[in-house]
Amino acid sequence: MSKAVIRLDPSHKKLLYAGFALLWLSGVLWVAFHYLFPIQGDFGPAPHPLQIWWLRLHGLMAMAALALAGSLAPNHIRLAMNRRKNQRSGLPMLGLTVWLAATGYALYYFPTDDNAAWLPLLHWIAGLALPLMLVLHIRMGRHRPAPASAQKRRASQLHVVATSYNPPPARNQASP
Ligand code: HEM
Ligand code: HEM
Repeated sequence: MSKAVIRLDPSHKKLLYAGFALLWLSGVLWVAFHYLFPIQGDFGPAPHPLQIWWLRLHGLMAMAALALAGSLAPNHIRLAMNRRKNQRSGLPMLGLTVWLAATGYALYYFPTDDNAAWLPLLHWIAGLALPLMLVLHIRMGRHRPAPASAQKRRASQLHVVATSYNPPPARNQASP
């Protein structure tokens, strides 16, 4: 059996990146087509025919992304939590995923005329920040503090100890 490690193996990492990239892209394409490319229907502006397909792709990728996020729980997240590693960016990363899942759920099951003006914004504006958050998380995770032995060595080099110090006699000191 392979040893449990925080670092992801290459195929797991590729799958995670591909899943999150498609999730993000499908959301961004929905926003772009919704706001930038409405078409003129018989009764005024109507959604572009591709918009529904971006949402269908997005719903599919949302399920896949939650499964992928869950796949991080047994090793990546559990070990990093136990060893207190990279929590400063890991916990916000986890929080953002939970927020997107919760607001996505609300969008699917509670869409009303009253919340149509703000609920989608709570979801997709946070969603736009996902890649930025992930890049930050990975960069902070890769930054390793120097090992304790190297830190000790550096500290001792800075701490200069004078073996003896005989101050010269003061010039204007009166001789006995
Ligand atoms: C949805 C949540 C998360 C995602 C998508 C995620 C994703 C990633 C990815 C892709 C990497 C780069 C891995 C590599 O280069 O092998 C990484 C690194 C890391 N993450 Fe997370 N992570 C998440 C949550 C967390 C949490 C909650 C923690 C800590 C409590 C954490 C701790 C770390 C650490 C310590 C690294 C550096 C691993 C290393 O290079 O040895 N992650 N994360
Ligand atoms: C774990 C992450 C995510 C989950 C679980 C999730 C889930 C969902 C769900 C369930 C819906 C409702 C689908 C429907 O009404 O048929 C939705 C809509 C949407 N999502 Fe996400 N999503 C996530 C991340 C993102 C990201 C990263 C973006 C990027 C911008 C995004 C943008 C959107 C947009 C634009 C909509 C349509 C809003 C509307 O109908 O008014 N989502 N999402």
